[in-house]
Amino acid sequence: MNSAEISIDRLRADTPGTNHVLHFNNAGCALPTRQTLEAISNYQEQEALHGGYEVMAAYADQFKQLHQELASLIRSNPEDVALTENASSSFNRVLYAFDWKPGDVILTSDIEYGNNYLNYLWLKTKWDIEIQVVASDENGRVDPNDFARQIQANTRLIAVTHMPTNSGIIYDVAGVGQVAQQYGIPYLVDACQTAGQLPLDVQEIGCDFLCATSRKYLRGPRGFGFLYVKPSILSKINPPWLDMHSSTWSGIDSFEMEHTAKMFEQWEVSYSNMMGLYAAMTYANKLGPEFIWQRIHYLSKYLRQALNEIPGVTLHDRGAYLGGIISFTVADHHPKEIKEALGRQHINTSLSPAASSYLDMHRKGLSMVNRASVHYYNTEEEISMLADALGQLAV
Ligand SMILES: Cc1ncc(COP(=O)(O)O)c(C=O)c1O
Repeated sequence: MNSAEISIDRLRADTPGTNHVLHFNNAGCALPTRQTLEAISNYQEQEALHGGYEVMAAYADQFKQLHQELASLIRSNPEDVALTENASSSFNRVLYAFDWKPGDVILTSDIEYGNNYLNYLWLKTKWDIEIQVVASDENGRVDPNDFARQIQANTRLIAVTHMPTNSGIIYDVAGVGQVAQQYGIPYLVDACQTAGQLPLDVQEIGCDFLCATSRKYLRGPRGFGFLYVKPSILSKINPPWLDMHSSTWSGIDSFEMEHTAKMFEQWEVSYSNMMGLYAAMTYANKLGPEFIWQRIHYLSKYLRQALNEIPGVTLHDRGAYLGGIISFTVADHHPKEIKEALGRQHINTSLSPAASSYLDMHRKGLSMVNRASVHYYNTEEEISMLADALGQLAV
């Protein structure tokens, strides 16, 4: 869709939540469209009236189409995308698909998400692997050559986060991807905060795996995520468990396993929420990632500028090119106090504790930050109201 044809009023009219709250917690869970809500409730009604399995069969084409929509979002093929429960479970499926040996190395970024790093630590505890972290500079920039310099004979996986949970920095995933490809090392990208926020192209990124979630910038329902798996990596991994959707029990002592991304899928899911995700995906793809990113980029700059002008407010995002997540603190006020005070004015923001991105928070000397995250349906007026409210609290 041409961005000149898109009316923000129309997008807000499609988003019932905008009548109730100023929603700056899109990095937590964005507001869904009424189309998504209707898709979920219509499907649930059909299930109640006709039976869950019977309705599932009737909607088979739409479920297939959902894979197509997800594939379009990241410019891949539908059979290379697996539906999962969330981004963490996608990420963990990949980590536990490798046959780890003591001394194997995971090379990673210094902005990793809590779940990811926790599981590196768990692999270290269980299999005695090593974790190596590539440092970014003062401005949050990483030199992909630093990844190349740290690669050793036993580097088994490169895993990085595209945009962290606690700041708007956009990591150079394509630069790191070139290094991964050059050295032939499997490459996993956590795109949880960027899927639905900015254009993604798995060929351009050069990744073997990419994880994302439904409820954040994609505006889908909770409880869904997806995982892209490049076909050429399939021979190097094994799914951590089998399911009757990903494999078939073909004889007393035998089974057949899917050799596509489907090897990571499960049979039992919430089909009504899957229809909700389908509605969210068609909506997002119709708007187009370029429009969405332009608008989020513009609003995030607008919000950073507004916050910068408030005495006592400190921004904590580093980097020249930042996205929709803005982290800040207010002098002499605990982040919880600020979040709660804003909440009383129907302004939704969130908190990022150190545990959700420990390396980055530790380096910045922070135990918790406030987080405001914008989506395309936010407005300049809403941002001014947030800034005014913060201005009052900061005095
Ligand atoms: C960067 C990043 N990765 C992964 C996740 C995990 O997503 P999910 O809760 O869907 O597993 C989050 C959630 O906040 C995140 O911010």
